[in-house]
Amino acid sequence: MTTTDARAGSASQAPGKTGGAGSDKTKASRPTIFVKELSRRARKRLLRHFLALDSGDRLLRFGSVLSDDLLSRYVENIDFSRDTVFGVYDRKLRLLGVGHLAFAPREALPSVSASTTKERVAEFGVSVAASARGMGVGSRLFERAAIRCRNVDIDTLYMHCLSSNKVMMHIAKKAGMAIHRDYGEADAYLKLPPANPASMLQEAVQEQVATLDYTVKANLRAALKWLSSLPGIKRD
Ligand SMILES: CC(C)(COP(=O)(O)OP(=O)(O)OC[C@H]1O[C@@H](n2cnc3c(N)ncnc32)[C@H](O)[C@@H]1OP(=O)(O)O)[C@@H](O)C(=O)NCCC(=O)NCCS
Repeated sequence: MTTTDARAGSASQAPGKTGGAGSDKTKASRPTIFVKELSRRARKRLLRHFLALDSGDRLLRFGSVLSDDLLSRYVENIDFSRDTVFGVYDRKLRLLGVGHLAFAPREALPSVSASTTKERVAEFGVSVAASARGMGVGSRLFERAAIRCRNVDIDTLYMHCLSSNKVMMHIAKKAGMAIHRDYGEADAYLKLPPANPASMLQEAVQEQVATLDYTVKANLRAALKWLSSLPGIKRD
């Protein structure tokens, strides 16, 4: 991608490494996943998430194996006033998954500009911690990004990835994206319907629930920290 730990959201079981089409994690057993919009205050956690990706994942996510230094610069340069970044936290407030929705004028993406009359297009990049894959985190981040696009008057969501990226290709196909493959790379486009009261409400409710989930986890952590500071009380 060019744009843009372990228990998930409420993910409460230790997940396997990859999930996968042959995974034994049935959809019914998947944990509830809360997708929260991140602010610039999350930069440290974002960096920790990206630094934990191995070189293969960095290649899949960014199109090249970014060094730790470049990842640090990437995180430092995320423009939160222009773009939107979504995250899924575990109970220790580590980021299990991150989706970066980068907005650009349509001229900036010539391959997309012909198919839209809107002024802006959006490019989506996503990564999920290896320990949290196959639980639906990536799909939920994608769905949330698509709703955001609709609600900010964008009708084309674009993703660029390696065509060998079977998991991402699966997610893209499942979402109904049109995929164009070329020289080992793939461009995927999703045409989105306009916003309506239901899409607005859906996003607002999702954000409120995710914020509540985050607040509960943060308060619990603070309470545990305070408890462990009391003499004679040990934390596991
Ligand atoms: C791609 C990525 C974000 C997916 O995250 P995830 O949380 O594991 O994804 P989900 O659990 O939502 O969905 C995975 C889907 O792929 C399917 N899948 C897994 N392995 C597969 C394979 N080898 N072939 C086809 N489908 C596969 C799963 O069955 C699941 O489908 P389902 O929801 O219909 O059951 C994650 O693997 C990742 O971070 N990879 C490295 C970075 C990357 O590739 N980013 C994308 C850049 S374009």
